[in-house]
Amino acid sequence: MKTTFIFFLCCIFWASSSQAQPVPLKWEPVAPGIWKATIGQPDKVDLLGTAGGSPRQEALQKLGERTFPLQPAGCNAEIRDGKVYLRFPLQEEEQLFGLGLQFKTVNRRGQVLNLHMDHYGGNDNGRSHAPVPFYVSSKGYGVLVNSARYITVYAGTGVRVNSEHPPKVYDRNKDADWSAQPYSDVVEMLVPATGTEVYVFAGNSPMEAVQRYNLFNGGGALPPKWGLGFTHRMPTLSTADQVKAEAGAFKEHGFPLDFIGLEPGWQTKAYPCSFEWDKTRFPDPAGFVKEMQAKGIRLNLWLNPYLSPASSLYESAKPLSGSHTVWNGLVPDLTMQPAQNLYKQLFKKQHIDIGVSGYKIDEVDGFDDWLWPDVASFPSGTSAEQMRQLYGVMMQRATTAWFREKGVRTYGLVRASNAGASSFPYVIYNDYYNHRDFITAMCNSSFIGVLWTPEVRASKTAEEWLRRMQSACFSPMAMLNAWADGTKPWSFPEVEKQVKDVALLRMQLFPYLYTTFSQYYLEGKPPVRAMNLVEGFSFQQQSEKTALDGTNNPYQLALRADVKDQFMLGDDLLVAPMFAGETERKVILPRGKWYDFYTGEYVGSGDVIIAKPGLDKIPLYVKDGGIIPMIPPVLHTPAPGEQLALELRHYGEAESTSLVYDDDGESYGYEQGKYMQYRVAAKKDKHGKWQGQVVTENKPGLKPAYKDIKWRFMTQEQK
Ligand code: GAL
Repeated sequence: MKTTFIFFLCCIFWASSSQAQPVPLKWEPVAPGIWKATIGQPDKVDLLGTAGGSPRQEALQKLGERTFPLQPAGCNAEIRDGKVYLRFPLQEEEQLFGLGLQFKTVNRRGQVLNLHMDHYGGNDNGRSHAPVPFYVSSKGYGVLVNSARYITVYAGTGVRVNSEHPPKVYDRNKDADWSAQPYSDVVEMLVPATGTEVYVFAGNSPMEAVQRYNLFNGGGALPPKWGLGFTHRMPTLSTADQVKAEAGAFKEHGFPLDFIGLEPGWQTKAYPCSFEWDKTRFPDPAGFVKEMQAKGIRLNLWLNPYLSPASSLYESAKPLSGSHTVWNGLVPDLTMQPAQNLYKQLFKKQHIDIGVSGYKIDEVDGFDDWLWPDVASFPSGTSAEQMRQLYGVMMQRATTAWFREKGVRTYGLVRASNAGASSFPYVIYNDYYNHRDFITAMCNSSFIGVLWTPEVRASKTAEEWLRRMQSACFSPMAMLNAWADGTKPWSFPEVEKQVKDVALLRMQLFPYLYTTFSQYYLEGKPPVRAMNLVEGFSFQQQSEKTALDGTNNPYQLALRADVKDQFMLGDDLLVAPMFAGETERKVILPRGKWYDFYTGEYVGSGDVIIAKPGLDKIPLYVKDGGIIPMIPPVLHTPAPGEQLALELRHYGEAESTSLVYDDDGESYGYEQGKYMQYRVAAKKDKHGKWQGQVVTENKPGLKPAYKDIKWRFMTQEQK
């Protein structure tokens, strides 16, 4: 009682004394290169606690200690009006990345964002499917606010009267350099809560800060092998027979397929959902799932988490649900174990125990006008706002755990995520359907520990269809979502061959993709990487000035050039998607020599090149010394125990060593070290002739996945 009273007094003192003067944050180290500060009285429910990741201590130790990356005196907080105001320093040439899954821009400096869970609406204003309050600086550190509130971030916009680095004063009447955004030396954040935790992640590069962030949250997800194959989603009212026929058609067309998604009509009721099989369309769900599995095809089930009044669970779920419905469905309070258990029993019995491989968790992002409103209440006392920020994460965590209990990995889709969720095997998607912006979202996903798929649905032309398919095949999930249109990969016969070629190329690249994902788990390196995370990439941001005229808003921000239409997939492969209507594009190559993936030809070093790939190809470039492991063009990713031939393609002039990762592909054994890494090395002998070496790690109980390992020295073949 006494201590509570003293604490209370301290809080009042802290709060009132901070009115005049913001207080420097007090940092405590929590892992090598990671610090935490606590301000005021944080909410019981926060982002990291809800995601529940355990830091990957060993991997963090490997990254090592670093000094605190910011000027401690510049990191301040104050509490006013029961809200937290945070301030972090910003240097002149610093660029900022992250702050949610945005679709139009990459560099956040100069933006104001209200990080609010929502369906992306066409503006980078903070409303997004993953409003992650984590920013990464080009100086190589990251800042996370661990609060599940709608946080407003002024990412280098505010200018304080007492700033130590005041901007130059311009006179708009005379100075052409006048800007509506004078220089700001601060990131300021408003957290509408009485307290919060803040974390700082150090690094000697932006990538290292991202690695620490991901590793602190449990590391990145490692999908099962089948998750990296091709996936197709059925029209919403499909029957079991139609699904079987579709799988047959894929085989006939020689098109790869690893898992099929069933859309809302697999259930007796949808929007809101019953989660029970519709027996008119699926008379024998268990038999059906088994039959598909025998063909090498897994099943993924669409759902939204809102419970139908027709469900047998409805009455028991009522006291465990929020005050408001979504489409007349209950919204269970998933912060409460009993609410989770209700779903767990049903989902296990109806889906997981019969072999369903994963879920597509839809509608957890919401649109304000149909989701529960912010005035809603929930039985646990968690606010509607926090529920909105967290529902997608709670669904990911719960479902991942249910598959884990069965000992199998899952890989699914979700429309909402947040901080701390990198270890969940879920990929974000949406209905926005802008190809170019989908690629920008891929870039942005890499800063904030989430995965994103630029799914393909339909297209106006064969060219657009092919260009979209090419991008999808170089993403975390290669997906055709035909839920509305019933499109097939071969829907445009003019480009059927090219679509098939790129899908088969993805299959061939399976060992490379799987190795890349293993880095996400083992080292925290995201599989898709924005160029700003890549070593040797330098690009000066430029603003385009517009002259004043009578129609343009004179306060409008100058347009900034971002690199947001190309990215790295793993360590060695640079992907530069083409968009419909384009016959050529600019590609910015990082420092060091780069080679054409298809031919092995040298293309440039640190240059801006023009790619003219023709319609058939997506431009792909390999770093000097890159070794790309490939298998034959199979229709399914390797099954457990299956052995395939491996081709190791070496590019460029540099001698190099690389690792090829493998494990059983479906269990969690890798977490206990049950995985192997082939050490592959390309070296020149004393006659200048290339030689390849492969050292296979011997791990008891693991059968090598690759046999007949052959080398190809792609650049040498050119000569
Ligand atoms: C949308 C979703 C689509 C599809 C559809 C089915 O909300 O984004 O991918 O699943 O629902 O009704």
